[in-house]
Amino acid sequence: MNTMVLLRVVHVLSIILWIGGVAMVTTVLLPALRRMDHDGNPIDLFERIEGAFGLQAKITTTLAGASGFLLLHLLHGWGRYLEPRFWWLHLMTLVWLLFTVVLFVLEPLVLHRWFHEQGALHPAETLARAHRLHVVLLALSLVAAAGAIAGSHGWFLF
Ligand code: HEM
Repeated sequence: MNTMVLLRVVHVLSIILWIGGVAMVTTVLLPALRRMDHDGNPIDLFERIEGAFGLQAKITTTLAGASGFLLLHLLHGWGRYLEPRFWWLHLMTLVWLLFTVVLFVLEPLVLHRWFHEQGALHPAETLARAHRLHVVLLALSLVAAAGAIAGSHGWFLF
């Protein structure tokens, strides 16, 4: 199999597992937890479920980044960062950078403790904040994916 095709397969499968998981947390899990009675301990449940997704998210962001940069290199595409019509490449890279910083730096150093402490004090507001953050990240990811699919098949906005 051609290397470029294999890289695309790895790239897109990683994105499906990663952004699909983010979509599930954003549109199903967090709304269900926000509706839940506080006696059911929704904060604890969220930490357990998102914690279990953490390893999958780390592996898939790493694979998506590695395959993405390798694809860009093989396409001789570094110059695309200088062209506005490749805005979706900038957005893909930004989304990847945001998740990488959150998963590998902020979550273990700050976010995990912050969520636990705030969740114990103000469970409803903490879940609402986590939900808003997920909505923003999911929206950016979907716009990046839509732009990438259209752009890499020759359909540019300008
Ligand atoms: C370091 C970050 C990333 C880099 C360097 C990167 C790079 C690339 C490159 C070079 C392509 C092929 C473009 C072409 O054929 O002209 C591509 C395709 C694609 N990327 Fe990324 N990407 C990254 C992250 C992401 C993220 C975060 C998403 C989703 C939110 C994403 C979704 C896609 C999709 C859906 C395609 C289109 C595949 C196709 O239809 O052929 N990428 N990416």
